[in-house]
Amino acid sequence: MRERINWISNKMEPSPHEASLALLAEDQIKKVRGFHKSFPIYEPTPLVGLDQLAKKLGIKNFFLKDESYRFGLNAFKVLGGSYAVGKFIAQRLGKDISEISYETMISAETKAKVGDITFYTATDGNHGRGVAWAANKLGQKSVIAMPVGSSQTRLKAIQAEGAEATITDMNYDDAVRYVNGLAEKDPNGVMVQDTAWDGYEEIPSWIMQGYSTMAAEADEQLHDAGIARPTHVFVQAGVGSFAGAVQGYFANAYKEDCPITTIVEANVADCIYRSAQAGKLVPVGGDMQTIMAGLACGEACTISWDILKNKAKFFVSAPDWVSAFGMRMLAAPLRGDRQVVSGESGSVTSGLVATLMEDDTYQDFREALGLNEDSVVLVFSSEGDTDPAKYKSIVWDGECPSVK
Ligand SMILES: Cc1ncc(COP(=O)(O)O)c(C=O)c1O
Repeated sequence: MRERINWISNKMEPSPHEASLALLAEDQIKKVRGFHKSFPIYEPTPLVGLDQLAKKLGIKNFFLKDESYRFGLNAFKVLGGSYAVGKFIAQRLGKDISEISYETMISAETKAKVGDITFYTATDGNHGRGVAWAANKLGQKSVIAMPVGSSQTRLKAIQAEGAEATITDMNYDDAVRYVNGLAEKDPNGVMVQDTAWDGYEEIPSWIMQGYSTMAAEADEQLHDAGIARPTHVFVQAGVGSFAGAVQGYFANAYKEDCPITTIVEANVADCIYRSAQAGKLVPVGGDMQTIMAGLACGEACTISWDILKNKAKFFVSAPDWVSAFGMRMLAAPLRGDRQVVSGESGSVTSGLVATLMEDDTYQDFREALGLNEDSVVLVFSSEGDTDPAKYKSIVWDGECPSVK
């Protein structure tokens, strides 16, 4: 018997203020996109229409945003780190981000004006690589701490960007606290964390804004394909900044016509699911060992929670096999569909949608979602094979089987 997928609908009282939603308003999104477009490496990542899969599952469309193509870094995360670094530099220069381009950011003149900076962060891999990449481009330093059990391959990828990176013996949330302490002691230190807590909100809000490029591109690509809007969006969450950004984008863009959004977590780190159940933020502790390394976070981002609590419709706590199944399904597509290399934290939403449509154990959830032949589903494959050995072990060797 495979472990159960748990789901709940959102029964929380909406909170009256929606301050975080304004972070993803149209004028903000324009600034983010303008900034990212100034990067010579910028290109929208592909939106893949898996038509044969949609037909097999009995839905109208299955669209997947393939973030393995992002900036040559194999994951979406650099969108957030780069924008936060850009905003920080703009602030130091006393300018608006719309006056800052990639060229200004990396110029010797900017370096001379802002002086030496060391960027600090904790990461399971992708965010740290993005921050290290941005610091490297600026000619600045970065110090990166990784949680216990992190992959050596992901560590090396970060070190290759010139960062001082180490794997600690702590879980993700403790690694955040540890590295924040280092940043506070360093007069040139700046903490660039992809999650917020009370008293630390400005930089995480910039990171969330940075992620919006991905949702805005997907929306534009859907329009180009003649699709008015997705009916259902599935988005995975670690701390939830990514999910909050996607949810916030669609809530602002479509208002009362907002797609039905489902937030999906690894079941050993399902802090948002549990918080939705409890109606208030509830942390998860322990080592949170899961193949979905990017989702192994036990304390939700406070500003994102503000958005998700009001706008998300469903919350899912998923076992590892859902993600492994998604990886294999996307790696070996139906004839006529394009292959997608989707890593452990990227594939869980695809695995979930396919399971809901084909396994009658989840008929109640399928019906609650209203998933049927008219549904236009959008998922985000947020990373490629960021740990190639693990990817191969799952896809080729069958690690983490999904047989019923
Ligand atoms: C590939 C990937 N997908 C999704 C996430 C989840 O993002 P967040 O922690 O903002 O919820 C992460 C986080 O590191 C990630 O690396």
